[in-house]
Amino acid sequence: MTVSYPPKRLLYGPGPTQVEPRVYNSMTQPLVGHLDPCFLEVVDEVRQGLRRVFGTANEMTLAISGTGSAGMEAAICNFVEPGTRLGVFSAGYFAERIAEMGRRHGAEVVQWQKPWGKVFGDDEGAELIERDKPGTVAFVHAETSTGAMQPGKGICDAAHRAGALAIADVVTSLGANEIAADANGVDIAYSCTQKGLSCPPGLAPITISARAMERLDRRKDPVEVWYLDLKLLREYYDAPHKYHHTAPVSMFYALSEALRAIEAEGLEGRWRRHLEAHERFVAGVQAMGLQMHVAPGRRIPNLNTVRVPAGVDERQVRSRLLEEDGIEIAGGLGPLAGQIFRIGIMGPLATAEGVDHFLGAFGRALG
Ligand SMILES: Cc1ncc(COP(=O)(O)O)c(C=O)c1O
Repeated sequence: MTVSYPPKRLLYGPGPTQVEPRVYNSMTQPLVGHLDPCFLEVVDEVRQGLRRVFGTANEMTLAISGTGSAGMEAAICNFVEPGTRLGVFSAGYFAERIAEMGRRHGAEVVQWQKPWGKVFGDDEGAELIERDKPGTVAFVHAETSTGAMQPGKGICDAAHRAGALAIADVVTSLGANEIAADANGVDIAYSCTQKGLSCPPGLAPITISARAMERLDRRKDPVEVWYLDLKLLREYYDAPHKYHHTAPVSMFYALSEALRAIEAEGLEGRWRRHLEAHERFVAGVQAMGLQMHVAPGRRIPNLNTVRVPAGVDERQVRSRLLEEDGIEIAGGLGPLAGQIFRIGIMGPLATAEGVDHFLGAFGRALG
């Protein structure tokens, strides 16, 4: 049998992103059982750390076993009952996925559309919610497929005025940007570990307001996905810690270490570092004569989308970066395929040196 070792890459894509050695090292700690008191302490530490990065006091804050899509599906299957209306603010690939999940779970999905890369204004969002009266609304805070950041407060306020719950996809924003879930009135926010939290993929942090949990507790029919049923997960992660499934113990070690590293840096310092790296990146690509896809003020600091210049084959540029510099970036999805580069400047790479190193290699690859 031959064993092949993965090459060392610099992960400048949308995720997975670069992981600090301390987080890798934490995963080599000995396994304990998923009901061991020691593991349950790690779980509690993770839940506490997640409350801080989400900006919430929600009791129901935990990490679901699975990637960001498991968080998305948990939000949909628990809070969008079959036959009810789900309104989705849709301007990218991941909003499309939310809508698709809603349809598969039997919801009546109303998709409010915008060109990919645009965002909805507060008044516009409120009008759509008032007009279509959904029971739940969903938006993608950081739409990784376009690079646009959708502000959430106006949407959440309008949803509450209409008696609806508000779901926010913070898969790309969590850990690198302020979420302020409570201050913005988000009812359900879910994320992943492999982007702004600088951790390998495998868990889906989620936080749920008391108001949303009350709605879930009133629900008569059981949630159709047993694995993601939050009432069952609550019995596992809260006392009496009733067995539900075997939690990925080593992933919890990694997430607790990643959260400790974030804590040591300080949240505000971390957000500022990502913003400064983003500004340096934008100045650098513009100096190279390239254009950003999203308008200023609407851009996701840790996920940049750069227009592919005329006559350039973006796949060739990406291959060259990978082969010559070991750098991974991503191309566009859906209608933006071939038109943009998606470049993540996150975690340990979100520094002046990290940006300059990337720009040097990018310039060479563009030829
Ligand atoms: C905004 C957004 N939502 C959801 C997902 C799905 O997450 P995952 O690939 O971890 O399942 C992604 C992944 O890139 C994403 O960027």
